[in-house]
Amino acid sequence: MQDQLIGLFPPGTELDDDGALVIAGCPVAELAETYGTPALIVDEGALRARARAYADGLAARWPNSRVTFASKAFPCTAVYRALTEEGLGIDVASGGELTLAVAGGADPAGLVVHGNAKTSEELRMAVDAGAGLIVVDNFDDIDRLELILAERPGREQGVLVRVTPDIRPDTHEAVSTGQAGSKFGLLLPEAREAIARLRGSDRLRLDGVHVHVGSQIMDTKPFEQAVEAVAGLGTFDVYDLGGGLGARYTYRDSPPSVDEYLDALVDSARGTLPAAARILIEPGRSMTAEAGVSLYRVVTVKHGRPTFVAVDGGMGDNLEVSLYQQRFEATVATRVGGGGPVRLVGRHCESGDVLSAGVPLRDPRPGDLIAVPVTGAYTYALGNNYNGARRPPVVFCRDGRHRAVVRRETYGDLLRRDLD
Ligand SMILES: Cc1ncc(COP(=O)(O)O)c(C=O)c1O
Repeated sequence: MQDQLIGLFPPGTELDDDGALVIAGCPVAELAETYGTPALIVDEGALRARARAYADGLAARWPNSRVTFASKAFPCTAVYRALTEEGLGIDVASGGELTLAVAGGADPAGLVVHGNAKTSEELRMAVDAGAGLIVVDNFDDIDRLELILAERPGREQGVLVRVTPDIRPDTHEAVSTGQAGSKFGLLLPEAREAIARLRGSDRLRLDGVHVHVGSQIMDTKPFEQAVEAVAGLGTFDVYDLGGGLGARYTYRDSPPSVDEYLDALVDSARGTLPAAARILIEPGRSMTAEAGVSLYRVVTVKHGRPTFVAVDGGMGDNLEVSLYQQRFEATVATRVGGGGPVRLVGRHCESGDVLSAGVPLRDPRPGDLIAVPVTGAYTYALGNNYNGARRPPVVFCRDGRHRAVVRRETYGDLLRRDLD
């Protein structure tokens, strides 16, 4: 059981002689002492290794390709920088993510700009930044882009059309995006109409099509179906096949590996897409989730049925439980494994502020450190100031060295935007 638990932490995580976690060579007690809690710990080596596994794996199977990191999963400058250094393109879904990506060193030509409600200001930002591809999600995007390009004589903008193929993967409905009735993209008949319009445009260059059917997908079928759906739309230079591969959050989860996912995707592409086409993929969750660990300190233990173990963070730094009922495992970081089930809760004023229900913790006491693995995706991104919570630092660990890449918010930060 202890091995299984350690298997959820970044590869290379080990126990010291006292049974305490050591992440990327860094003892958890030292990390908590240095940066305080709560803190989001990232094994930088594991993050970079995952990026290389994706990039090398896709290139080996389909050389004319690129992995584009869906940065909504972890939009922090240091993550943009690391993944850009590993050769990835970047998917952004707002002017804010675009700003962060450029600050993190992303090459604008490798940016793919998304959004179901991109404002004219954001489209202008993307065009002026030199974004390689803008993904058209609706007919207003086309109208707005035509106007923006008309003001910039001689400029041309590459675009993709986002297709909604009416595929419903087996995942939480909040993160399912490819079904009919989704707010994202265009159903096949409308997509054909948009393609026809764009083929007639002399300012917008239609490079291809895009499809993304959802997130935390645990089998390869929906990805294969999505490839078949976009293949039926015609011959293009670029097919962006989206992201969505699931992460392994719990013992029970068994998502396809990156290799299994790429095998399925590229096998499907080989049968259906033009051999000369360029394939893009946009992994987010599966790129960063498993490199992250949240560290908390126990504030109080309330014995009873259930026993509540309340820590110094919660839904301010991890909304995944409240939004999608995501299950997380956890352990006392200095006494790993064992123990009886408790309700691990946060400090926020909602009964739904739960980090993990029924998770075994060994003899948890106030002051103990708690580690929650697989928190590297959509936790930092969804961090908030509920109850005046100061958002936690992000700490990169590698080969026994650690550094904060984002500092903890201060109470002063909470006041900074108030004008009156
Ligand atoms: C267009 C698009 N691409 C990629 C992703 C990344 O998905 P995931 O984090 O599940 O890999 C998303 C996530 O919602 C998305 O909307």
